[in-house]
Amino acid sequence: MKRPWQGMHPVKRLGWVTLISFALLAMGVLWDNWGDLVLPPKNTATETPQASAAQIEQGRYLSLAGNCMACHTTLGGTPFAGGRRIDTPFGGVFSSNLTPDPVTGVGRWTAQDFWQAMHRGRSKTGRLLAPAFPYNHTSVITRQDSDAIFAWLNTLPPVVQAQPAHTLVWPVGTQPALAVWRSLFFEPSPFQADKSQTDEWNQGAYLVQGLGHCAACHSPRNALGASGPVSDLSGGLMPVVNWYAPNLTRDAESGLASTPVNEIARLLRTGGSATAQTSGPMGEVVQHSLQHLKETDLQAMAVYLQSRAQSTLQPASAAAKPSRISLQVATQGAKVYERQCQQCHGEQGEGIKTASGEVAYPALAGNRAVLLKDPTNLVQLVLYGGYGPATKGHPRPFWYAARRAGAPGSRHRRRAHPPAQPLGQPGERSHALTGQPHPGSARRLTPGPRLVNCGTA
Ligand code: HEC
Ligand code: HEC
Ligand code: HEC
Repeated sequence: MKRPWQGMHPVKRLGWVTLISFALLAMGVLWDNWGDLVLPPKNTATETPQASAAQIEQGRYLSLAGNCMACHTTLGGTPFAGGRRIDTPFGGVFSSNLTPDPVTGVGRWTAQDFWQAMHRGRSKTGRLLAPAFPYNHTSVITRQDSDAIFAWLNTLPPVVQAQPAHTLVWPVGTQPALAVWRSLFFEPSPFQADKSQTDEWNQGAYLVQGLGHCAACHSPRNALGASGPVSDLSGGLMPVVNWYAPNLTRDAESGLASTPVNEIARLLRTGGSATAQTSGPMGEVVQHSLQHLKETDLQAMAVYLQSRAQSTLQPASAAAKPSRISLQVATQGAKVYERQCQQCHGEQGEGIKTASGEVAYPALAGNRAVLLKDPTNLVQLVLYGGYGPATKGHPRPFWYAARRAGAPGSRHRRRAHPPAQPLGQPGERSHALTGQPHPGSARRLTPGPRLVNCGTA
């Protein structure tokens, strides 16, 4: 019997093979993204059961752990009404309205619709969502937790506010492009507990990989904007915002292997510990999210983070050697330091402690933030600031700075940065957002609003 391709011209045959491969790939991508429209996934309760007070409270708490408000609120806007622009290397993505308005919000959604968005990154309409919404991480959470967040969102006052159209460069924001992207980089990934670990460790892992979406910043992104797996904490440069989120598994970068669990929990809760200060985007994470978590959850996260860091502990000899600099640069640097920095950070960079031994001005000598191989954060700090957050446990991170700034001859400094207002209110601005300069900042003018970009489309 003669097969149809026998005797066909080789070029023509190649053409057919290519065409069929493309068709098969396209079908694969279609199935991958919309297959459940044909075969609906199990667990499709379409009724949303009446929420209990406990479930609503749990939802409120989980939304703090997920820092939903930070992305779903414009500066000064109504909390959760969306519309905030998140800049990506491919253009702007606008967050959606999560209040229960029936037309512009989630008022007509069921818990199942919400689960589809959280777990599969698909809107109620079936639209594929831009991964600036870190749904690779929300897909880790349980259906129960998703339902609790949804129940709580439904108790908010409805706000009429349509989601602005994304301004992504063509064809990045189109549905076919997103479908291909998702087939390459996204798969719903429910939490996998590690049976060999304690419940506490697993609870920490669940929070870090899921709602905490730590890897959205702390893992490297590829050229197509995809970050690593939800458990990848190997460090990454945040696009557009340009801050380096250090490798949390390398002690030299984050100190997590050698810091006691209590101190790690304190750092997450207050933004400061004996050996570290959070700043910039991390300050915002502490400000809006971590400081509101229960001590047991912070402790669990600390246990998980420390164990991850300890399992990759490297010998001290692997530490980076300082790079050589010319005498001229060193002399100039020393002069600037003497004039601009020394009064607060000490003659030898030793910092200043209060009478009770608390850090008033952090030491810069031996400081991980200074020794990081990637100097991005240092430059950001000195140029624009990036103050630590004002938290209950550390209410006025620059109280001392403000007092010092009040000294004669430096009035301009006080004006540049009044003492911190405790933040954490809906729609508030954090220092990084307002571009509050560092006390020793080279620029006293505030740059435009700076956005934290966790995701990218
Ligand atoms: C890093 C920023 C960011 C964080 C954090 C974030 N979101 Fe979003 N979210 C977005 C963006 C941007 C969109 C819009 C995506 C689109 O329209 O393509 C979105 C879309 C959504 C949608 C789909 C809405 C619709 O109309 O289809 C839901 C639901 C949602 N987010 C819920 C949440 C919840 C709940 C949390 C907290 C657990 C959260 N988001 C945290 C940025 C974020
Ligand atoms: C929006 C991006 C972003 C997210 C999300 C994020 N981080 Fe960070 N993180 C950073 C940046 C940038 C730094 C470096 C600045 C600094 O040291 O504070 C950092 C620093 C840190 C440090 C080192 C602090 C120090 O100064 O030694 C720890 C620990 C840390 N992050 C833990 C976490 C954990 C745990 C999560 C998840 C709950 C998380 N981060 C989520 C951006 C982020
Ligand atoms: C008026 C006092 C003051 C001056 C002057 C000052 N700083 Fe700071 N600096 C601070 C305070 C306070 C903090 C800690 C902020 C916080 O709590 O997050 C800080 C934090 C830092 C950090 C982050 C340390 C960490 O552990 O994350 C660096 C780096 C830094 N300063 C560098 C400089 C440099 C370089 C100069 C000179 C150009 C300078 N500072 C001038 C008060 C000052």
